[in-house]
Amino acid sequence: MTPKNYILGIDTSCDETSLALLETDSGKIISNLISSQVKMHSEYGGVVPELASRAHAENLELVFQKCLQQAGISLEQISSVAVTQTPGLIGCLLVGTSFAKALALRLGVDLYAVNHLEAHLFSPYIESEPEFPFLGLVVSGGHTIFYEVHSFFDMNVLGQTIDDAAGEAFDKGAKLLGLGYPGGPIVDKKAKLGDDQAFAFTRAHVKWSPNHLSFSGLKTALLHHVQAECRNLKIETPENLPETTINNLCASLQAAIVDNLGAKLKAFLQNQNFKRFGLSGGVAMNSLLRSEVQKICDDNTIPCDLAKPAFCTDNAAMVAYLAYHQKKKADVFSVSPQASQKINAKELKKDAYRSAKN
Ligand code: KG4
Ligand code: ZN
Repeated sequence: MTPKNYILGIDTSCDETSLALLETDSGKIISNLISSQVKMHSEYGGVVPELASRAHAENLELVFQKCLQQAGISLEQISSVAVTQTPGLIGCLLVGTSFAKALALRLGVDLYAVNHLEAHLFSPYIESEPEFPFLGLVVSGGHTIFYEVHSFFDMNVLGQTIDDAAGEAFDKGAKLLGLGYPGGPIVDKKAKLGDDQAFAFTRAHVKWSPNHLSFSGLKTALLHHVQAECRNLKIETPENLPETTINNLCASLQAAIVDNLGAKLKAFLQNQNFKRFGLSGGVAMNSLLRSEVQKICDDNTIPCDLAKPAFCTDNAAMVAYLAYHQKKKADVFSVSPQASQKINAKELKKDAYRSAKN
């Protein structure tokens, strides 16, 4: 019989159709495919939910076949299916969960529902093992959350944004500057050529809860800087601003976002005892954020685990990885002690009869 030892992970929460396979004996990811819809959405300056779910419906089966092919395994070798259940765009989640349910029923295997944010949270540990408790920062297009993590199944939110997510601040900033979508990677690139002191952005403090963050003021501040520059240079639209000004605006905006996150990281590391720090989510791709959190962790002598670029933006490897641990937990709890072995007299008699015959 062909061994069934692969978990299939599926993520269709937003604008990436992703499928991955994890081999359960080794715990290793052997395939992680991502079909990105970025090109399609960039025309509209952001994700169009209806187009996103249609594209998932069209691509899912194809990416699935490619994933099996790349891994060199057959359908029957899948031992469990894991799928992102929440949070995400409802139409997109529906496509993924319907596919996952049908496949699990067809194969007669378990189905694991995975929380997308928790999957991001553990993504720095896909190729290593976490040590608990660790401090995790999930920083993506829709969320910015610091977690205190005690186990794969026990975590608390320490602080989070009360308005825009950090990724949203990058995306909205880039849109305002006419730079395209998604804004994060573009701002990151341009910021490398700019002066981060050129424009002042105040760092927001949430008075009623110092553990929380706020990024929504940044886009207003950026708008004011852009309007002032346009007025000074007698330019009508930000797209026509000189390259240096755009680069300086990107560098200053990025520094403000990273500074805000860094300040919270420092505070959490200094006030509590963590064994490690893990950075994850799409914004974890940001070059300045990566180097800054590394520096802060070094200063606090805490190991810093940065999710690998392939596991930062939405991917199904992180979904399969979390399900792998859910499955392990389920297996552990199925082992319950019994003080004495239950004896089934009928079975014993049958066994005795069989051995006598042989
Ligand atoms: O995790 P993700 O793929 O999707 C969500 O779950 O939201 O994150 C997407 C976000 C977008 O806001 C994108 O602009 C941001 O990640 N991002 C970056 C970089 N690469 C992607 N932000 C800053 N710098 C980057 N290099
Ligand atoms: Zn995500």
